Amino acid sequence: MLMELEQVLHMNGGDGDNSYAKNSSQQKEAILKAKPLLQQTMREFYCNSFPDCIRFADMGCSSGPNAFLPTWETIEALHKTCHSLNCKPPLLHVFLNDLPGNDFNTIFKALPGFYDRLKKGDDQNDLLSCFIAAVPGSFYGRLFPPHFLHFVFSSYSLHWLSQVPEGLISEKGVPVNRGNIYPTITSPPSVHKAYLDQFEKDFTKFLTLRSEELITGGRMILTLRGNQSKDESFNNYRPIFLELIGSALHEMVLEGVVEESKLDTFNMPMYAPSLEEVRNVIQREGSYNINLLETFQLSWDAGSSNGENSLEGKYARGKQVAMKLRPVVESILVSHFGNAILDDLFQRFSIRVADCIEKGLGVHTNVIISLTKK
Ligand SMILES: C[S@@+](CC[C@H](N)C(=O)[O-])C[C@H]1O[C@@H](n2cnc3c(N)ncnc32)[C@H](O)[C@@H]1O
Repeated sequence: MLMELEQVLHMNGGDGDNSYAKNSSQQKEAILKAKPLLQQTMREFYCNSFPDCIRFADMGCSSGPNAFLPTWETIEALHKTCHSLNCKPPLLHVFLNDLPGNDFNTIFKALPGFYDRLKKGDDQNDLLSCFIAAVPGSFYGRLFPPHFLHFVFSSYSLHWLSQVPEGLISEKGVPVNRGNIYPTITSPPSVHKAYLDQFEKDFTKFLTLRSEELITGGRMILTLRGNQSKDESFNNYRPIFLELIGSALHEMVLEGVVEESKLDTFNMPMYAPSLEEVRNVIQREGSYNINLLETFQLSWDAGSSNGENSLEGKYARGKQVAMKLRPVVESILVSHFGNAILDDLFQRFSIRVADCIEKGLGVHTNVIISLTKK
């Protein structure tokens, strides 16, 4: 099952209209939101021991401009720190990790431009040397030697599970999450439990594997999608994107466009946990001290180049937001439903997105975590 998901899951590659590179402004906002924490943590880490070389891993880097952004932020933090201390900056060894199906070629092609930009830094004497390597493989497996990494970063990736949870088909072979692709308010409790169990298993494994790879005192900054139905700062129930895709697929079943059995046997390998669910896993796993664990909100059209009022109407806005999700989930949907339904599905999805935005429900909850390896 793990191998199967690794083979189908990838963000759309290249730099065309449907690519992740062109449609990742929402995820960029999450990286920017974590920037002050990443930079402050990097400063603290460096000033603690003044290492000659810092080994930094970005887990689930994808491709496109976001793949380099955390590295730029790190370089900026180290450059400023060393400049103010009047000391020689450390070497930065960066490891960009993602699944083997990720479009690493687009990253490699952008590397010369990255190094050129680095050389153009205004203070040549202070130039920070940075070496970038790619590490293809699942972050639910070992990726580095023991006590090797100083810093682990991951943005918007850990809500992806290692597999579709077990237990979504009953002992009699009947699908339990019928008509849905994710645990929703209409799903039976066993579905919620199956998803939570899988998240706990996967996140525990991620923490344990990284604790073997990090040095003592090594730092980790993570962001991931959070559960908004349990977010008490909002009175109204707010659906997540996957519920809206599920409801669009359900409508297509009712119209005979999609086979019912196809929908009933599909479940998304993704889980957005609550803050408490994340805290429980970290505390139970036991390898880290928690420095910070919070949620933050981003509107669905965060990072969009069009201002609030510049789009023609609510459906144009819904479509723009919906199209940004397409490069993220397309590979998984196509592997189960085929290509033919995609345009229709995303049209229906975009109408639901537009309605939610109009009702003021177009907000994502995200979890941000800062940990120190004990
Ligand atoms: C939404 S993208 C986020 C990419 C980037 N960090 C950003 O913020 O724009 C999630 C990435 O996580 C990767 N991913 C999911 N599961 C993974 C796993 N088990 N191991 C490594 N990467 C994984 C996906 O392939 C995808 O590129």
